[in-house]
Parts: sequence; structure tokens; C-alpha cells
Amino acid sequence: VASIIVKTAQGEYPITIGKGVIKEIGDIVLRAWPGKKAIIVTDSNVAPLYLESCRAFLIEKGIETHAVVIPAGESSKSLATLTTLYDAFYTAGLSRTDGIIALGGGVVGDVAGFAAATYLRGVPLLQVPTTVLAQVDAAIGGKTGIDMPFGKNMVGAFYPPYAVVIDPDLLDTLAPRRLSEGIAEIIKYGCIKDAEFFEAIETGVCDWRGGIRRCVEIKAGIVERDEFDTGERMLLNFGHTIGHALEQVTGFERYTHGEAVAIGMVAALRIGEALGVTAPGTQRRVAQVLQVWSLPVELPPATVDAIIHALGADKKRLGGKIHFVLVKEIGESLLYPMTIEELTGIVARVYRHA
Ligand SMILES: NC(=O)c1ccc[n+]([C@@H]2O[C@H](COP(=O)([O-])OP(=O)(O)OC[C@H]3O[C@@H](n4cnc5c(N)ncnc54)[C@H](O)[C@@H]3O)[C@@H](O)[C@H]2O)c1
Ligand SMILES: [Zn+2]
Repeated sequence: VASIIVKTAQGEYPITIGKGVIKEIGDIVLRAWPGKKAIIVTDSNVAPLYLESCRAFLIEKGIETHAVVIPAGESSKSLATLTTLYDAFYTAGLSRTDGIIALGGGVVGDVAGFAAATYLRGVPLLQVPTTVLAQVDAAIGGKTGIDMPFGKNMVGAFYPPYAVVIDPDLLDTLAPRRLSEGIAEIIKYGCIKDAEFFEAIETGVCDWRGGIRRCVEIKAGIVERDEFDTGERMLLNFGHTIGHALEQVTGFERYTHGEAVAIGMVAALRIGEALGVTAPGTQRRVAQVLQVWSLPVELPPATVDAIIHALGADKKRLGGKIHFVLVKEIGESLLYPMTIEELTGIVARVYRHA
């Protein structure tokens, strides 16, 4: 299987993508780090599905394999989980030539990744994402971290993995809402970078499984050019400024992340059309594709005031400005620096006086 190579400040790593590539995980580990030991970090939903088979593929290549299972869910991205992981690594006798395998969604990838970045000042890491969101986004690009009481992803590190294994077969067991939220992120890649790809998804010429590789290529290219998120990488935040605010004001319960991003993308397109930056009709076209996947596209009017308030506290800004992502036309996006007042002003104009 052909791998995508990602270059980073610290070297490069391969992303191996394909149906059934999980079976090759033993050889991939042997190429990734010199030691013959691995510890799998996974969660309580993924463990019963894939832990034993994954372990067997490693053992058959002579790799001493340990495992640690954390509770499923965002609340595991915590200091408490880090303590559990460091203890497990120590008990397993992990050295700096051995490695950690993050087998799970973005939660496992982020917390296990941060544990790998910090245990013994850094041990090898293999990302094996098992959600669409993690396969097209979280597992690529080296961002790791945990949540703190004062905010999500507030503590972390840029720590590129030694390798990434992406097997779409692992997605067969995803709940329907988890699948569609991942597809929202797939559609995002088409909107910001690739009109042809968007159209292929829109018309069904390309199914979402086939689309994963294209998304990985796009993200890998972006993080290669802007590893530390000071420019082009911010385009990946398309739909996320308002999406995050919506997640926040609805207590992270009403919407999945991808659902909030779907609403956020449509809102950003509406704002772009109002500013005369986005080609008229783009909003409608993107909303239609999202709806095919049962994704919500309407910002609930009752949340508008709270969102305007929450936007003021967004941490993703540079020099006092929010780098709001607008799409000029499908496949072409840009950073549109706005002060918080400008952003909240346009949100109010578009949504309060609609
Ligand atoms: N590091 C990054 O660049 C980056 C980017 C985007 C998101 N994230 C982070 O990713 C997290 C969200 O990731 P997520 O959506 O994958 O959430 P998640 O890891 O919580 O997984 C979602 C749910 O699906 C279950 N699951 C995972 N794989 C499964 C499978 N194959 N079959 C059945 N169930 C499965 C999990 O147990 C969980 O209940 C957030 O914490 C977010 O901050 C990180
Ligand atoms: Zn996202």
C-alpha cells in the first residue's frame, strides 16, 4: 500500500491508508521504532471491538504487547488520565526505544499522544484512528493535548507521530451520528481546498470511504506548509469559530462536534455572502450536501445572543483579531481577519435582522 509521507520540523512520518491495513500494524511498528515493545492505549468502546485483533497482529511479529483501556468520552482528556497512562507505561517497563499505539478516536489520539510527548520526554507514537473525524483530522498533524477546567485543549504539545495507520474497515462499527459528523469534516476539505473533490462527494461519484485519502492528502499538505498553525493551517477552522461557540453555549450535549461544524460552515458561508466575499448560492449548495448526511444546517435563533457573547472569548486569534475563515467559492478559502466587534456585528446583522 502506498503511504503518504509528511515532513515535519523533526523529520518525517508515513501515513499508511487502505482497507485492511490494520493487519500490517506489526511490520509498521517494526519500521517505526527500534524496540520490540508496544503499549496500546484505547477506550472502553473500542477495546471490545479491536483490541484483541490488534494485539494479535503485533504478537505475530514478535512484539511484546501491553494495553491500557481508558473510559470512552471527552472527559478522559484529563490530567487524571495522564496519571493512569504514565503509571501503565512505567509498569509495562516502556523505554524510549519502545512505543505507544493510540487506537481510538480523537480523544484517545490526543491524550495518548500527549502522554507519548511527555513520558520520558518523548517516546515513539503510532496513531491508529478509528473514527472518521480522527482519520481525516485529529490523527494527522501532531497536535496532542488535554482539556482543563478552564477550557478544551488548553494544555498540549505539537508532537508528530512516528507513523499513522488508517484503515477504513475500522469504521464499520461507528454509530450513524458519528459517521455523519465525520462526513461534515470531509465536506469541509472540499469547501476549503478542492472543488472537484466537493463535486465528487456531492454527486456521489466518490463515496466517503474513498474520500478519506483525499482529505488526508489535503491535511498533510497543509500541516507540512504550516506545522505550527500560524497561517494556512487556520483554514482548517472553517466552520469552527461559530461551531465551537455553538457547542459551548449548548453545553457540548445537543450537537456532536461535526454537527456544530456543519451549522458553523453554513453560517460562515452566509456571513461571506453578506460581506460580498462568498459567491452567491454557495451557502445553499453546501447546505444541501450536508443535509444528505442528516446534518443540521440552521443556527437555532434562540442561541444567537449566547453565541455572540461566546465569540468574544474565542482563543483562536492572533494579535487581537479573529482569523475568520471565509470561502470565496467552493474549493477556495481565505483568512479574513476581523476584530471581535466586527465579527459579532456581522453575526448580529445577519441573524438578528434576517
Ligand atoms: N489533534 C487534533 O488535531 C484534533 C483535531 C480534531 C479534533 N480533535 C479532538 O478529537 C476529539 C474528538 O474525536 P472523536 O470524534 O473521534 O471522538 P471520540 O474519540 O470520543 O470518539 C467518539 C466515540 O466513538 C467511539 N468509537 C471510536 N471508534 C469507534 C469505532 N471504530 N466503532 C465504534 N465506536 C467507536 C468512541 O469510544 C467514542 O465514544 C476531541 O477531543 C477533539 O478535541 C483533535
Ligand atoms: Zn473539527
